[in-house]
Amino acid sequence: MKTPTPIAEITGTGRFLPDNIVTNDDLAEKLDTSDEWIHSRTGISERRIAPDGMFTAHLGAEAAKAAMTEAGVEPGEVDILIVSTATPDRWLPSTACDIQAVLGCKNAVAFDLMAACTGHIYALSMAEGYIAAGRAEVALVVAAEKMSAIVDWSDRTTAVLFGDGGGAAVLRPCNGSGRGILSSHLQSDGNLADLLYRPGGGAIDPVSQSVLDEGRHLMRMHGREIFKNAVRSMAEACDIAMNKAGLTANDIDLLVPHQANIRIIEATAKYAGIPMDKVFVNVEKYGNMSSATVPVAFDEAREQGRVVPGSNVLTVAFGAGLTWGAMALRM
Ligand code: UT7
Repeated sequence: MKTPTPIAEITGTGRFLPDNIVTNDDLAEKLDTSDEWIHSRTGISERRIAPDGMFTAHLGAEAAKAAMTEAGVEPGEVDILIVSTATPDRWLPSTACDIQAVLGCKNAVAFDLMAACTGHIYALSMAEGYIAAGRAEVALVVAAEKMSAIVDWSDRTTAVLFGDGGGAAVLRPCNGSGRGILSSHLQSDGNLADLLYRPGGGAIDPVSQSVLDEGRHLMRMHGREIFKNAVRSMAEACDIAMNKAGLTANDIDLLVPHQANIRIIEATAKYAGIPMDKVFVNVEKYGNMSSATVPVAFDEAREQGRVVPGSNVLTVAFGAGLTWGAMALRM
C-alpha cells in the first residue's frame, strides 16, 4: 500500500512525573512481594506516586504546558482539548474542563475520553479527525493518570504494577510537510470488560458503605488473561497500522509501546518483527501509567534523540475495555 499523505502532525510533546519514587523494596515492606518477583515478572523497578494534594488535572496540566511551550502555542489558540484518563479527579465535570481552567484555554472545546491504557492513541486519532474536518487548527491531547488513587494497595497482584504521571502532545495541520500521522488502527471488545475493571462506585453499584468496605471501587484485573490478549491484540494492531501506512517492520525506526510489562513489550515486538534495539522501554522507572505511558515514553524518546526529524515511529497500546490500537507517524 502507498504511504498516505498525513493531515496532522505533532509539533510539541511534554511530560510530567511526580518526584516521589516508590521502589519495589518499599512495596515489599507492606505487601507479600519482593523486588525479585516484580522485576523478573514485569521489568518494573520503581514507579512515581503523586503526593496527597496532587491530582490528575495537575499531572495533565504540567505535561500540557511543556508540550505547548515546545509547539509555541498560547492557551487561547487551542481549539480542542482532549484528556484521556481512567482516573478523573471527579465524576463531574470532566478533568478536561479542570485542565482547561488551569491552562486558560478559554476558546477550546474540552472533554474527557475514556479508553484506559489506549486512551492517548484514541485521543490523537480523534484530534486528527477534528483537524481533518477543518474544525481545529490547534489540538491539545493530554493523558493524565493518578493510578495510585484506584489501586487496591492490599492486593499484591495489581498494586505493584501501576504508577502516576502525565504526557501531552500538540497536533496541528501539517500543510504539506509530509510529517504527521500516517495511519491508525483502533479497536475494542466490550465482551471482555470484566478482565480489568472497577466493579463499584458507578451508576450500577453507587458508592455505599459496602462498596467501600469490600473495595469494589478499586481496580481488579485477571492478569494472565490480560497478558495473552495484550500480546495478540498489539501485534495485530502493529501489523494493520504499518500496512495502512505503507510501511514494513524494516521501515520502523522506533516502536513506542504501552509500558505495562517488559515481557508483553518483548513479545509484541517479536511478533511485529521489530528488534528490541528499535523499541523504547522505560517501564523500569515508571510502571504502568495507563494512557500516560505512551506520551511519556514518546517525549523521553524524543529528548534522548531516538526520534528525529524524518523518523518513522509506531506506537501501540492495550488496556481495559478491552481497547487496543496502534498509530504510525512520520516525525
Ligand atoms: O495496561 C494493561 C493492563 N495490564 C497488563 O497489561 C498486565 C498484564 N498481566 C501481566 O503483566 C502479568 O500477568 C502479571 C505481572 C500481572 C502477573 O505475572 P504472571 O507471570 O502472569 O503471574 P501469575 O498471575 O501467573 O502469578 C504467578 C504467581 C501466583 O502464585 P501461585 O498461584 O503460583 O502460587 C501469584 O499469586 O505469582 C503470585 N504473585 C505474586 N508473588 C509475589 C502475584 N503477584 C505477586 C507479587 N509478588 N506482586
